[in-house]
Amino acid sequence: MMKKKLVIGNWKMNLNMHESSIFLHNLSEKVKVHRDIDVILAPSTFTLQSLSLQVNHHQFKLAAQNFYWRDQGAFTGEVSVSQLRGIVQYALVGHSERRNIFGETDKDVRAKVAAAIRNNIRPILCIGENSDERNYGEANLVISDQLIGGLANVSSEDIEKVVIAYEPVWAIGTGEHASAEDVKRSVRIIRSLIRTLFGQEAASDVRILYGGSVNLSNADVYLNVDNVDGLLIGGASLDAYQFSGIVEKAHFMQLEETKRRIDERL
Ligand code: PGA
Repeated sequence: MMKKKLVIGNWKMNLNMHESSIFLHNLSEKVKVHRDIDVILAPSTFTLQSLSLQVNHHQFKLAAQNFYWRDQGAFTGEVSVSQLRGIVQYALVGHSERRNIFGETDKDVRAKVAAAIRNNIRPILCIGENSDERNYGEANLVISDQLIGGLANVSSEDIEKVVIAYEPVWAIGTGEHASAEDVKRSVRIIRSLIRTLFGQEAASDVRILYGGSVNLSNADVYLNVDNVDGLLIGGASLDAYQFSGIVEKAHFMQLEETKRRIDERL
């Protein structure tokens, strides 16, 4: 069976309530619904509840950008993933901006992955090397450490609920593009590590996305990389024309893939 592709828009700390609502309206006019694509929007936490009332749930699913891993308690200013139940279906975990600006460690990331699963929300675990690590030839090691660190509390029954986003830090918001070869190599490492930790079935079922300066002109380069199941998009997700265009490209790729499979069987 073919896996659905995921196209995720991470709005980061942009758009106020009013602007978010207008932007969602624009998106809903432009983004077509396709059965083979899940389109997921990750707006600011404070807009989630009201957008969840506005959104057409057949067209878009919602994701949190962040949350705290405890379910409730004296944690001033935090929002727990259990408070987000019924509002989001997915949650980003360990985005490089969380790790680098807010000091999240693999230990926090692992607690958050477990909290999301416990609350029936699919974690999107973000991993990726920074430019120094890349230049020192440590990219594979960093990816493996972050993956093992993030998945340490996940059981083999739950692993298929996790989505992995490979996002090289040097390509996030920089306009610097990873090559298809870079992405292919990293995705291969991620799948082989999942195979070692959780077995062959998990390795083929888990969805692995690419993120980092994806836009309408380069999206098909990444969608074409073997075993890449979708995209995590920051800047370009705030442009309805580009974002809807990327969804169409993902759908087109799925159609091509279906045709290829049918031809192979004939
Ligand atoms: P970018 O962000 O597309 O703006 O590089 C990607 C991300 O942070 O997930």
